[in-house]
Parts: sequence; C-alpha cells; structure tokens
Amino acid sequence: MSPVSPVGPVEETALAPAPEWWQSAVIYEVYPRSFADGDGDGVGDLAGLIARLPYIAALGVDGIWMTPFQPSPQVDQGYDVTDYCGMDPLFGTMEQFDTLLELAHALGLRILLDVVPNHCSSEHPLFQAALAAGPGSPEREMFHFVPGPLDMSDDGGGGSASGASDVPPNNWQSVFGGRAWSRANPGSATDTDWYLHLFSAGQPDWNWRNPAVGEYFDGVLRFWFDKGVDGLRIDVAHALFKADGLPDSPSTGGVVDGLRSNPQVSDQEDVHEVYRRWRALAEKYEPHRLLVGEVNLEPARAARYTRADEMQQAFAFAFVKLGWDPEAWAAVGNELEAARQLHGASPTWALENHDIVRTVTRFGGGELGSLRARAALVAMLGLPGPAYLYQGQELGLPEVDVPLESRMDPMWARGGVCRDGARVPLPWTEDAAQNFGFSLTGPPADPWLPQPAGWGANAIERQQQDPDSSLALVTKALEMRRLLWNDEVFGRNDGGTWRVEAGNLLICERSPEFFVAVAMGSESVRLPAGSVLLSAAPPAEDGWLQPNNAAWVLRA
Ligand code: GLC
Repeated sequence: MSPVSPVGPVEETALAPAPEWWQSAVIYEVYPRSFADGDGDGVGDLAGLIARLPYIAALGVDGIWMTPFQPSPQVDQGYDVTDYCGMDPLFGTMEQFDTLLELAHALGLRILLDVVPNHCSSEHPLFQAALAAGPGSPEREMFHFVPGPLDMSDDGGGGSASGASDVPPNNWQSVFGGRAWSRANPGSATDTDWYLHLFSAGQPDWNWRNPAVGEYFDGVLRFWFDKGVDGLRIDVAHALFKADGLPDSPSTGGVVDGLRSNPQVSDQEDVHEVYRRWRALAEKYEPHRLLVGEVNLEPARAARYTRADEMQQAFAFAFVKLGWDPEAWAAVGNELEAARQLHGASPTWALENHDIVRTVTRFGGGELGSLRARAALVAMLGLPGPAYLYQGQELGLPEVDVPLESRMDPMWARGGVCRDGARVPLPWTEDAAQNFGFSLTGPPADPWLPQPAGWGANAIERQQQDPDSSLALVTKALEMRRLLWNDEVFGRNDGGTWRVEAGNLLICERSPEFFVAVAMGSESVRLPAGSVLLSAAPPAEDGWLQPNNAAWVLRA
C-alpha cells in the first residue's frame, strides 16, 4: 500500500516522476576477453560478442556493461589505456563496435562502457610526452610527478648511482602491492622525479588538480555519448583526487581496501564536482546517459556519489563482498537502506564482478556453494533497485584455481590476490577441442587463461536443455522480475528493512506485502505466511524453506 499523503492519491500520482529505466535495470557485465572468441586466437573479441548477443538478450537483462577494449598494452587487461576513444585490434575494429551498438539496441539492450579516469597506461602519448619533457614541464603537470630527495651521502648509500635517493615522495602503497611510486627516469642524474601509480607501474595516475585533465575526460565522455553509448561505468571513481600536497598516509595497507582505509588517497571532496559536471553532460543527451561508479567505500560515504545531481548508480560494495552470514547481510542491508534514505538513490546490487572470487566458491564451494550462489542470486534479484550480473554467474561458475604458470593478473604478480579465477573464458559447449565453444572458429589457439578439465559440465548449451539449471533459474527470475516490476506491490522502490529471524532466516521486508527470504541456517525454517512467487529451489514443504534456499514471498 502506498503511504497516504496529505495531498491525496490522485495528486500524488500526478506529481510522482516516471521511474527511469536504470532504477530497476539488470545489467550483464561482459569481460570481453573471456566472453566469446570470434577469430580463434584464444582471446575473446567483438566478433564473438556480436555472434553471442542473442544469448544475452534471451537472458532478459536490460543491458551490457563491457569492461575496457580500448588500445592498451594489456598490463592490467585493458585497465591501462593508451587511447580512450579507440579500439584495441586485439578485440576488433571501431566498425565492429558500431555494429555491436546497433545490434544491441535492436535487441533492446543498452550498452555501457568502462571509462578509466584515475590512471592511463604508461604508454599513453601524454605520459610519454611528460617523460620526454622533463622535470617542471607543463606536460608533467598532467600526472603526479614529484622530485625525490637527492642522496647527499658521500658513498651514495641507500641511493642510486645517479645521486637520486631511493626514497619515494611519500609512503603510499599500491593497491596491487608494493610502493605506489616509480622513478620517471631511473639512472638519470638530473631527473629525480617519481610518478604516482595507485595500481601497477604501467598505470600512472592522472593529476585531477590540473583542469586540463578534466577537459580531456569531458571530451572522452562526449565521444562515446555522441556515438550513442547508453552509459559509462567509472573505474575507481572515488580516487581521482588525492589529498592536497600528497601527505604521508597513516595507513600503509597495500590491498584493495588500502584505498578505502587511506583518507589521503580517496574520497576527496573535490571529486564530486566532476560527477556533477558529468551528470549534467549525461543529461544533455536524449535519452539521458547513465553513470555508474565503482565507489569502493562504506555505504554512507559511497551514497554521496549518487546524490541527485551526481551519478545515478554506485555499486554497493559492502554487499558485493558478503560471505554466507545472515547477521552480516542484515547489517549491511540496513546500512545501505540508511544511506538510501539519506541521499535518495537505491543501492546498486551486485554479488560478483571480474575482481572478486565467484560466489559459488565464496559461499562454500561444491554443491553447497552452488545452492547458496543460486539462493543469493534469487535474493538479489528480488531486492529493490538496479542489479548487475557478471558473465558466468548465471551459469553458477566456480572460481578456478588457475595454475601458477598461467596467471596473468598484475595484482598477483605484485603480491596481491589473484583475480584470474573469475576471468576464465566461458564454457558454451562441451567441445574441449573448440575451447568449450568459447572459440567460434578453429582449430583455435589455447584460451588466454586455461579452462579446467570438466569445464564443459557448466556449458551454456547443456544448461539450456536443463530446466533445473542455474541458467534456467536466472532466466526465470529475470522474466518474473520484468513482469512484476510494473506491479504496484513489487515495483515500488521503497527500499527494504532487513532482519534475521529464528533459525537464521534472513528477511528483507520490501513493503508490507512483499519480502525476500533466505534460509541461511542448517535447518528448514517456517516462512511468515504468504505465497511464494519464486524460489531458488522448489520448497521441500509448503510454507517452509529448506537450508540454502531463497524465496520471493507475497504476504497472505
Ligand atoms: C578497477 C577494475 C580492476 C582494475 C582496477 C585498476 O578496480 O575493476 O579490474 O584492476 O580498477 O584499473
């Protein structure tokens, strides 16, 4: 029931703005190099994605977010860009991209691209120009070049042969591990500059305090928006500005969360101005373009990036990282709800992406992990607000233990965790000779990351024949979501309140009429009275939910 407003229901309806498509959208993340390989070189590409677009459309999602395909030395699988408005030949041509966009739109799918404004590739022409121009030049002002102290000791102890000391400008650690600074010109006696890279040395950070950087990226946004791209996912959106003067950090943590816990490196107030400008730019286009942020901060801080005049969406990272723990789900759910009430925008739900251990494995692995991953998916798709799926999540793919010699992740190479296990090329068929259908032509080269033996057991072709498959469940959930979202009860974005009932039954109460339930304990639990609209597995007994099952329930 809608809350009764003093102006009465008629006026209320007239005043309510029509919901925007993105407020309830489900977007499918495509990691192009692992999705489908059209030319048989073992790396996924645009030809593969074009050929497989009907599969994505048939899933019933609203759009696709593609991770970077722009020209890049691929140090960080494309998150090190040399040309923000180009296409890496590894993936295809710009003509193919135009075709993709047209076909996707014809299938009713929107296309979001990744833009990486925190850093570029060290091969980017502007970084190369900065290196060549030398210390103190305007070219170096585009990045964070800082002179290191000279080594004043006689024997050069602790320093380099060049006379520059080995002490970087501050104590910041790279997200990937190791220090966040490298020498611009190692070995030079005159160039003592260091440059900042929050990620690998091949990814220098832009200096957003220089307005020329903002102008440059405004142009990048315009380029893609002019092409008809429907939106952009903003990489590391909270870290563009660093604390003035680049002071030492109180924390020296080098892991991804190091960014979060490091107040000098992220979440500076100035960054919001960028998103206000970009939102205004996005709304100059019809239809308005969507901005979704990778804002890896706690809910109350992250929600500030989705204030009415900033980005429309920011991933709910506190939710993305949850284990199988009802109290943690309820606490995070309520924290996100409190943030929504403060700043207006619904959380943007996700459980997986290309940086995170797959849910099947995270929730316990094997049969148990599979059940839980399905339950979590059903729960997520029942929550109010937009949601993102990561390719392969619909298949219930587990994290792969990629053999040491085959690992490609620069984070792992620098001592961090390895993210390759979530990036193994998709199994489309059971045909191992064809890289399990990942490669469309052949005989193909080996896939860029090896697919494990038995990968074909998860194949799309196989799951399409099986009414009990994970794929069938996701397709059904998306279909019901689409049908119900227009419904007065289900379609309201009123947020949700979370609690844990006896027996570790997690409940997200979306409205007086509708709730989502997840049985997170080890015994079956009785559901509050109502009818089950959808469940991850058929309930073993009427009115009860067996362990590791989830349901959408309409109250009696
Ligand atoms: C984001 C991306 C990740 C990448 C990093 C640096 O977190 O999702 O894959 O390594 O940014 O660009």
